[in-house]
Amino acid sequence: MKTIISPSLLSANFLHLDKEIEMINESEADWLHMDVMDGVFVPNISFGFPILNAVGKVCKKPMDVHFMIVHPENYIQQTADSGAAIMNVHYEACIHLHRTLQAIRSAGMKAGVTLNPSTPVNVLEDIIGDIDIVQLMSVNPGFGGQKFIESTIKKVERLRQLINRENSKALIEVDGGVQADTAPRLVKAGVNILVSGSYVFKAADPKATIHSLKELETL
Ligand code: DX5
Ligand code: ZN
Repeated sequence: MKTIISPSLLSANFLHLDKEIEMINESEADWLHMDVMDGVFVPNISFGFPILNAVGKVCKKPMDVHFMIVHPENYIQQTADSGAAIMNVHYEACIHLHRTLQAIRSAGMKAGVTLNPSTPVNVLEDIIGDIDIVQLMSVNPGFGGQKFIESTIKKVERLRQLINRENSKALIEVDGGVQADTAPRLVKAGVNILVSGSYVFKAADPKATIHSLKELETL
């Protein structure tokens, strides 16, 4: 199975979003990753539903929305209405994670759970069967262009073991610092989905950069 590539819109040129989405549509990107931040769960504010709704109308790739907000359970229907295919919520932001995941699936989306760098994978042991995607943060959430946290490689291996042991079909997604030298190592460790922001959108040739990531073979 080829690696799923989900470029992160956070590093795009917001003055020319139409051109950026056109590039994504023409590229080999599988999904489009979109980061919603509230200035409470993370120390930054990005964009919300006006952008999700506008992009949802023109983007031909499934939208993979990553909520870095408190109370993401309050926005499930609005997210589905924007046309999003995947809704990722942070484990650390959800008191009733099981209920939230059920509601995301009932709204017709794939349910993703995101873990901060300091949250161990074993907290998902009893819920892994209800998750479509586990997203591991390989930087502290809130900003693009940060340095990859090395211990993520071992964390991916531990998550792969947990998924296999529990016979789960969950896919592993990694977000933060994904570029030329980290991407092949992540895929080797068992990652299925690579999110990449600055490496793709700041590249001289973003489509060629997406192609190079797409070439990586996964398990
Ligand atoms: C960070 C976001 C990421 C970000 C990744 O909080 O969740 O999706 O855009 O950016 P890079 O790939 O530049 O680390
Ligand atoms: Zn993200």
